[in-house]
Amino acid sequence: MRKPGRGRRLCVVGASGKLGRYMVRHALDREYEVVGVCREQSVDKLAEFDGRITVIPGPTNDQAVIARAVTGCDAVLTVLVPWGRDHYASGTAQAVLDHAQLEARLVFSCGWHISRDGKDVYGRKFKAYAAVFGKLAKLARVADVDDQVEACRRIFGSDTRWTVVRGSDLEEGESQGLPVWSHHVGDPVLASNLTRRVDYARFMVEAVDDDTLVHEAPAIVGRLTPSALAHSQA
Ligand SMILES: NC(=O)c1ccc[n+]([C@@H]2O[C@H](COP(=O)([O-])OP(=O)(O)OC[C@H]3O[C@@H](n4cnc5c(N)ncnc54)[C@H](OP(=O)(O)O)[C@@H]3O)[C@@H](O)[C@H]2O)c1
Repeated sequence: MRKPGRGRRLCVVGASGKLGRYMVRHALDREYEVVGVCREQSVDKLAEFDGRITVIPGPTNDQAVIARAVTGCDAVLTVLVPWGRDHYASGTAQAVLDHAQLEARLVFSCGWHISRDGKDVYGRKFKAYAAVFGKLAKLARVADVDDQVEACRRIFGSDTRWTVVRGSDLEEGESQGLPVWSHHVGDPVLASNLTRRVDYARFMVEAVDDDTLVHEAPAIVGRLTPSALAHSQA
C-alpha cells in the first residue's frame, strides 16, 4: 500500500526532544522525507536517524534557520516549549508562520493550559499547578508560559493551515493507538488527563492529512484511558 508520506517532505521543528524524536519515527514509517531542526548542542540526540533525515542545527526561533528548513516542505510539525526567557516559543512560531509554504500543513504542540476561545474548564488542581509552575518558572527565569500563550495567539490569528494540538499530561509506554480529542478541556471524555507520548506524536503526524483539524485546537487524551473508554461505551 502506498504510504502517505511517499514523495512528500515534512519538517520537525524541535526534533531532538522526546516528542520530536517520536514524530520523526512516525514520519519515517510513513515514508516522508524528513528535515529536523534542533539546537546545535542537541544534534547528537538525533544520531539514531543518521543518513535517514536532514538535520538543520540552530535555534528554532532563528528566522534564517527556519526559512532554510521549511523550504519545499508540505508539512511542518513544531514543538512549542515555554523554556528559556527570550521569547523562544513565540519566535519559533513566528518563524514557521512567516516562512512555511502557503499551502503547507502546520501542526503545533502545546499543553491544555492554552485556550483558544476561553471556554475550557479547568479543575482546581490543574489551575493551582499552572499558577505555581508559571510563577516559579518565571522567577527562576527558566520558562515563560506567557510566551507560549503569545505563540498560540499568533497561530490562531494566522491564515495558514494550522492545527494546535493540546496535550494532556504525558507518560512513556507502548502505543495505545490514536488519541481521542475534544474541543474543550473539561469535556468528560478528557477527564483522565493522560496520553502516551508516542501517541501524541502519532496524532501530530496524522493531523497532517486530516483536513477536519485545520483551524482546530484539539485537546487530546489516551484512547485506552478510563474517560476515553467510558465515552466510547456511552
Ligand atoms: N511534559 C508534559 O507532561 C506535557 C504535557 C502537555 C503538553 N506537553 C507538550 O508536549 C510538547 C513536548 O513536551 P515534552 O515535555 O514532552 O518535552 P520534549 O518532547 O522533550 O521537548 C522539549 C523540547 O524543549 C527544548 N528545550 C529544552 N530546554 C530548552 C531551552 N532552554 N531553550 C530552548 N529549548 C529548550 C528541547 O530541545 P533540546 O533537545 O535541544 O534540549 C526539546 O525540543 C510541548 O509542546 C509541551 O508543551 C507536554
